[in-house]
Amino acid sequence: MFKRLIVAALVVLAMAALAACGGGDKNEEATPTTVPAAAQQQAAAPAAPVGDAANGAKIFATACVACHGPEGKGVTGLGKDLTTSEWTQQQTDEQLIEFIKRGRDAGDPLNTTGIAMPPKGGNPAMTDQEIADIVAFMRTIHE
Ligand code: HEC
Repeated sequence: MFKRLIVAALVVLAMAALAACGGGDKNEEATPTTVPAAAQQQAAAPAAPVGDAANGAKIFATACVACHGPEGKGVTGLGKDLTTSEWTQQQTDEQLIEFIKRGRDAGDPLNTTGIAMPPKGGNPAMTDQEIADIVAFMRTIHE
C-alpha cells in the first residue's frame, strides 16, 4: 500500500515536470518570431505612402491647375494633357512621385514641349504625402 502511494506520487511529479517543460518551450518559441514580424511592418509602412485621391484633387486644383487645367486636360503652351499621357500611365506611383519632386527642365533631354515643368509645380513646401495624394488623383483622371 505504501509503495503504491510512492509510485503514484512519482507519476504525478513526472507529469507536472513534463507539463512545465512543454509550456516553457512554447513561450521561448513565440517570442523571437513575433517581434521581427512587427518590426518589419513598421519599417515597410513609410516606404509606400498611400495616396488620398480626394485630397489630391484639392491640391491639384491649386498647384497644377494653371498649367494642366481643371480636369488635367492640359493648357496649350503651358502644361500637357495628363488624361491621355502614355508616359504617365507607364510610371509606377513611386516614379511619378519622384518626377513631380524633380519636375522636367526645358533643357532636359526627356522634355517634349520645350516648356519647363517646375519641381512640385512651383510649390517647394509640398510634402511627400501631398504628392502621393496628387498621384492617386491623377490615376482617377487618366482615360
Ligand atoms: C508652370 C506650369 C506647370 C505647373 C504649375 C505644373 N506643370 Fe506639370 N508639366 C508642365 C509642362 C510644360 C510639362 C511638359 C514637359 C515636357 O515637355 O516634357 C509638364 C509635364 C507633366 C507631367 C508629365 C506628362 C508627360 O506626358 O510627360 C506630369 C505627370 C505633370 N506635369 C504633373 C504635374 C503635377 C502633378 C503638377 C502639380 C503639382 C504640375 N504638373 C504642375 C507644366 C507645369
